[in-house]
Amino acid sequence: RPRVLSGIQPTAGSFHLGNYLGAVRQWVALQESHDAFYMVVDLHAITVPQDPKELRANTRLAAAQLLAAGLDPERCTLFVQSHVPEHAQLAWVMNCLTGFGEASRMTQFKDKSAKQGADRASVGLFTYPILQVADILLYQANQVPVGEDQRQHVELTRDLAERFNHRYGPTFTVPAPYILKETAKIYDLQDPTVKMSKSASTPKGLINLLDEPKTTAKKVKSAVTDTDTVIRYDAENKPGVSNLLTILSVLTGTSIPDLERAYEGKMYGALKTDLAEVMVDFVTPFKNRTQEYLDDPETLDSILAKGAEKARSVAAETLAQTYEKVGFLPAK
Ligand code: TYM
Repeated sequence: RPRVLSGIQPTAGSFHLGNYLGAVRQWVALQESHDAFYMVVDLHAITVPQDPKELRANTRLAAAQLLAAGLDPERCTLFVQSHVPEHAQLAWVMNCLTGFGEASRMTQFKDKSAKQGADRASVGLFTYPILQVADILLYQANQVPVGEDQRQHVELTRDLAERFNHRYGPTFTVPAPYILKETAKIYDLQDPTVKMSKSASTPKGLINLLDEPKTTAKKVKSAVTDTDTVIRYDAENKPGVSNLLTILSVLTGTSIPDLERAYEGKMYGALKTDLAEVMVDFVTPFKNRTQEYLDDPETLDSILAKGAEKARSVAAETLAQTYEKVGFLPAK
């Protein structure tokens, strides 16, 4: 079985529709066919200031949402990044293999640090992609299921894996991004030219999976479209309508051409009403299942403890090989 690894940040509280359609949905599917490792990346979370209590609560909340979305601890390894100390340890080795200029070219740092003011951004935010490299290489992952915004980090991972293998001999699997074209980038409902993200300029454009279902329906119905009237997929000229068609297509398993045919002669309002209903039917049980996991923290924590144990056994082996290759004296 080929191996997949991916991660999600716990910082926003609720996952948003982009997280789900771009990544988590694929994670659920891949646990059937792959040896799958999925984690809540709390080490990545502290690259920007976090309230400790909130971080702890959000880490549990993220795990609960992953289970509610369909991850099955019998079929995949679900864990919290900080429970596996090898992530930070391998990250150091990777830091020393990365060029300063190379790290400077990571566009997410540019975007995120611009928001905070470059001088205030932490060094951790700067080296964030290198920690992600360590995450992936520790598990010798073949594929990394993510959204489009993570492609550059997977490319960096490939470069560093090849560099290490070239310098010290074959050690790491060179991973490939696993990015589905249809859902690689879900757009903001109010500004369909930018990706949906927790830092959206208006909350109306962001579908949080844990919002009240009524709020979700309202957001869908007030999505920005265009002044044309035809319901047709055209990402360039009709980004709003195309985004709604993408979401409806994935959630109902109906192809876009079939949807276009079904909505021939109909108004945008009809598309929005149907999508609002589909969304409500999706988020209502999701929200309930998440709450059930939160109500039973002991079960949740024991799932995470088992996950960490499985993850550590793989991570420790890779780290030991790496230390040996680098020339560290074994501790006897
Ligand atoms: P994060 O927490 O920002 O996002 C989690 C996943 O959601 C995807 N995503 C989207 N996909 C489509 N459309 C959108 N609008 C959208 N917004 C977010 C992201 O691409 C991501 O797959 N650095 C990572 C976490 C990470 C990781 C890793 C991922 C840490 N280590 C190792 C893979 C492998 C991040 O911040 O994702």
